[in-house]
Order: sequence, then structure tokens, then C-alpha cells
Amino acid sequence: MASSERRIVTIDGPAGAGKTSVSRRAAGRLGLAYLDTGAMFRALALALGPGGHALPEGEIAARLAAMTFSLAGSGAETTLLVDGAPLPDAARTEEVGGWASNLAVLPVVREILRRAQQALGQCADLLAEGRDMGTVVFPEASRKFFLTASPEVRASRRERQLTALGKPADYAAILDAIRRRDDQDIHRAASPLIPADDALVIDTSELSEDMVVERIVTAASA
Ligand code: C5P
Repeated sequence: MASSERRIVTIDGPAGAGKTSVSRRAAGRLGLAYLDTGAMFRALALALGPGGHALPEGEIAARLAAMTFSLAGSGAETTLLVDGAPLPDAARTEEVGGWASNLAVLPVVREILRRAQQALGQCADLLAEGRDMGTVVFPEASRKFFLTASPEVRASRRERQLTALGKPADYAAILDAIRRRDDQDIHRAASPLIPADDALVIDTSELSEDMVVERIVTAASA
């Protein structure tokens, strides 16, 4: 089946807008595999460590090109495998998110990951979540969403998530990291974080997770 015949739904938006849990549930309801593209940037960040973005570009590209990405399971239970294994919890911290954001400004990183993401989209009907899914990676997607929320709401959500994982969480530090990551993601030259012209923008600040899932499922099924 050609990629154009695959069903692709995209969800983009900034850190902490509630994309991950909403995307997973919506994928299950819509019968689509779930692709968390932030996890691909985080996998590279974890592999390279804190100063990864400052390594020679050729070395970063070679390390990334040697990594393999695949999907196991289906719907809400889809797992992204990196070199055959799920991403460790250590990749989910704000700190690794910052390293990932540093690497995400590099066009060579975006290019290699764009191709890997499009290859996954040729193997399965997908709900793809990230920053540039609707604008750059899957511009032909059948339905596009852009989730947003105020930085304060996003920081409290992240604080709750980290606490639930038993990880240290400091609201002020998280808010500061979210603002810095937003600034870098929005202002980078390569694939900046912006809604696609044809995306449905949903501000989740005042909405429950159930309400956001319902809106997405209804709009994507129409
Ligand atoms: O979504 P998540 O917080 O896991 O993403 C980590 C970082 O990876 C983001 O801050 C962003 O810089 C980068 N990213 C990206 N494009 C994507 C997904 C993530 O630039 N499609």
C-alpha cells in the first residue's frame, strides 16, 4: 500500500499541552498505531548525553543513522522500539527533553528523523504526535490537530506527571525549562513549532483530558 493510502492523523503542540496521554487514547479509539516522535529525539539525546548537540555534526548523524526505530503492538498499546527496546523512563525527564530540544535545531537530525517517521507511516495507519507532524512530516495527513495550553498549566501538569513517576519535581524550575524549550522550539529555523494552516487548534487549559480526546475523536471521525 502506498503511503498516500495510509490514514495519518497528526497532533502537534508544545511540551506539556497534554499531547502524549491524549494522543495514545485517541489512537486507540480511532484504531491507529501511535507514534511518539518526541521519544525519537529523546532516544538520541539519551544516547549522546548532556553535551550531545555540541558533538561534530557528522558524528551525531552517524549515531542517529545507526539507530533503528520500529513500532510494536497497536492502538493505545503501541510501543516505539529503539534498537529493539522500549525507551527507558530516564528519557522522560525535563532535563533530557532540554537535550532533545538542543538536538532538534540541527537540520541533519530533523532530516534523518523525518525519513524514519515517514517510513513508519508507510507501514501502518498512524496517529503521529510531535511538533512538525502536520507541517513537515505528514503534510498530507487526513486530520491535523494542534494542542496548546498556558505555560503555567503545562508546568503544573508536568510537575504532577513527574511526581507520579516518583521523580523530583520543582514547579518554578519546570516552568522555566518549559519557557526556554518553547522559545527554542518556536524560534528555530528548521521546522519551527507552528500549527499547520489546516490544523484544528485546541486550547486544553480549561478542558479535561476526556473532553480533549472526545473532540479529537469526533473531528477525526467526521
Ligand atoms: O514531545 P517531547 O517533549 O518528548 O519532545 C522533546 C523535544 O523534541 C521537543 O522539545 C522538541 O525540541 C523535539 N521534537 C521536535 N519535533 C518533534 C518532536 C519533538 O523538534 N516532532
